[in-house]
Amino acid sequence: MAQQPSILILNGPNLNMLGTREPHIYGAETLADVEALCRAEGARLGLEIDFRQSNHEGELVTWIQQARENRSAILLNAGAYTHTSVAILDALTAVDLPVIEVHLSNIFRREPFRHHSYVSMAARGVICGLGSHGYVLALQAADRLVRAKAQS
Ligand code: DQA
Repeated sequence: MAQQPSILILNGPNLNMLGTREPHIYGAETLADVEALCRAEGARLGLEIDFRQSNHEGELVTWIQQARENRSAILLNAGAYTHTSVAILDALTAVDLPVIEVHLSNIFRREPFRHHSYVSMAARGVICGLGSHGYVLALQAADRLVRAKAQS
């Protein structure tokens, strides 16, 4: 059987605090819960899941660069770096993989500084405001993109 497509799911700063961090905004689930959800959906779709979190911009950049070697798509919740990081945008542009941007909260219902996303400039699509279910939807979108590319 052909190798399973492999999806890198990257979580940026403070997402390790999920569950205790502002639950009225981000929900009660922990990052481990979100990971379990992604692994279950990945298994259902036949995708390998590489799920990571870092509080460090440079580490996220390095992981994005490395994805070029062996990943088929990137799901990215860059946390606050979404709104600040040209370095992450440049890394995403350089690897040239399908990118789906995810946010648990609806960033457009929040403070104006959250309305701009550098990540969006490199993303095929954006899902926000649907909590952890957004990760599941993003995986389904990644699956379609990866399989469509494999056929073309
Ligand atoms: C977030 C939204 C960002 O504005 C914020 O800085 C985060 C989480 C979200 O998932 O809703 O850390 O990316």
